[in-house]
Amino acid sequence: MVLALSFAAFSPVASLCTRTNSCSLRSTPHSQEASLLRQAAEVADLSAGLTAPHPNFGCVIARGTDVVGHGFLYAQGTKCAELQAVEIARELSRGATAYLNLEPGDCYGDLTPVSSLVQAGISRVVVGIRHPLHHLRGKAIQALRSQGVQVDVVGEDLLGKAFEVHQLQEALKSCLVVNAPLLYWAAYCVPFSVLKFAMTLDGKIAASSGHASWVSSKVSRHRVFELRGRSDAIIVGGNTVRRDDPQLTARHGGGHVPARIVLSRTLDFPEERKLWNVFDAYTIVATQRGACKDMQKKLASKGVEVVEFDFLNPKDVMEYCYDRGYLSLLWECGGSLSAPAIKSGVIHKLFAFVAPKIIGGENAPSPVGELGNVEMTQAIDLIDVSYEQIGPDILVSGYIKPIPDLSPVIPSVDETSALDPTISPYETNIIFFYKTWDEYGVFSNFSPHPVQMPDENGDYIMWPSVEHYYQAHKFIPADAPLAGEFVQQIKIAKSPEEAARLGRKLQRQHPEMVREDWDTVKIDVMYSALKCKFSTYSNLKSLLCSTAGCILVEASPHDLFWGGGREGEGLNYLGRLLMKLRSEIMENTSTPV
Ligand SMILES: *[C@@H]1O[C@H](CO)[C@@H](O)[C@H](O)[C@H]1NC(C)=O
Repeated sequence: MVLALSFAAFSPVASLCTRTNSCSLRSTPHSQEASLLRQAAEVADLSAGLTAPHPNFGCVIARGTDVVGHGFLYAQGTKCAELQAVEIARELSRGATAYLNLEPGDCYGDLTPVSSLVQAGISRVVVGIRHPLHHLRGKAIQALRSQGVQVDVVGEDLLGKAFEVHQLQEALKSCLVVNAPLLYWAAYCVPFSVLKFAMTLDGKIAASSGHASWVSSKVSRHRVFELRGRSDAIIVGGNTVRRDDPQLTARHGGGHVPARIVLSRTLDFPEERKLWNVFDAYTIVATQRGACKDMQKKLASKGVEVVEFDFLNPKDVMEYCYDRGYLSLLWECGGSLSAPAIKSGVIHKLFAFVAPKIIGGENAPSPVGELGNVEMTQAIDLIDVSYEQIGPDILVSGYIKPIPDLSPVIPSVDETSALDPTISPYETNIIFFYKTWDEYGVFSNFSPHPVQMPDENGDYIMWPSVEHYYQAHKFIPADAPLAGEFVQQIKIAKSPEEAARLGRKLQRQHPEMVREDWDTVKIDVMYSALKCKFSTYSNLKSLLCSTAGCILVEASPHDLFWGGGREGEGLNYLGRLLMKLRSEIMENTSTPV
């Protein structure tokens, strides 16, 4: 094959077909570009399943067609893709082209991606899509251009000129797919929701008796673990919990453990269910206000979070999940929940495993309940359908709603700077922050800003983030060797999210190792870390001061101590400390020397 191709390259035939789409013998610059961009998207996808879903950034550095460096963002607040790629490419970066599936912008004011590329001498950058969040959109592209780097955005600068539009469009699509959750999130203010089910050839998800294990093969179920690992949470209905008592773990060996969400009006549950064991994965039960208080108490005592809704429905639950910063959800429910979810428009994608077997039974349940359709013409047609054979099963997947391509919605060219002044922080009195990619996301303890703090001996130690520092201090001073080990583990956690999860888990498992006065000192611990963070990074300091006069609220709907809670019932200690710090900084700077 290789021989035939290289021969063709020297043959006269090759030169005849340079300007046609149909020629497959000779690769042209645009098909090379398309392939490199697709590789960037593939690299970006590598963090999926390892960490909580977050915007996926990948970077491929190439000289011609030779890839000389690559990297992906492992988690929010970790070393950016661009820096990793130039570290691999080293001196080969000079004059090379960097391919990015998504415009950089992990966190407001974080210039590392841009400065890494510029300092390494990258001369051209090809960007798949602009950042969909408008406070980040266009910022990095503009910064790169202002430093003399040529930036081509596919779909804006490249498509028009290309002979092989098709290949670039396909590459662009892989960029959209890898960040589908972020795009839906930005366009519709909901998490990206995937409905997954497994059915027999005759369309049943269980026998008439309700027995359902297993419809699909082991390999298919393995794929489900993978899908779970890519999700922030897995959603099931009360029936599934009552009948199947699932565990819903990901079991894929990655660091990320999705939460489990149960939707139930009645809370009519047995006292013992696998989902009530919150040791390894978090469980949230969403219910109707006032539902079975007794069960609510029992669940809460086991560490299950119970969230009451005035009227329990998929849409409001999705709003809650959005507020929690969830990007991606997997619905593994039966027909009575999947139908209202589809009807209310919250489901975006479908994964249907079809097993080559027949169970029969008029009353055997099917994957989707009543949708109210009476004619076949009303059926929902899936978009971008793909078919894959997995063991004996066929996996059919497709979209119910197309992936929003935000380029027509949000001004595309460098108009962002003209847009931004309209959102002056002074117009709103309350500034919410939560996820690092939010407009004021740098106020989050998960932002990628290492802090250097003195330890008990006065030696300065670098902590990867405020969160690392805070979680570790639950076990400091580490009098027992085990506590010292915990501190080390937390300190080297790969991401702030992992530090948080580890800190909370160890605290739950080993309450005796937590310093006794933790509740009284934790505010001071937090304040000293915040003070260090905002003194170290002058751009953060000025952003904080620019919010003068505004109330800062950490918009965590479930952390009622540090966050503001769902309806303002939280104590908002993080917001309060930031406001305190803001006045301290402003007082200090206004004092005449
Ligand atoms: C403000 O000034 C005091 C006195 O010099 C100093 O101790 C404190 O750390 C300063 N605060 C900040 C936030 O810089």
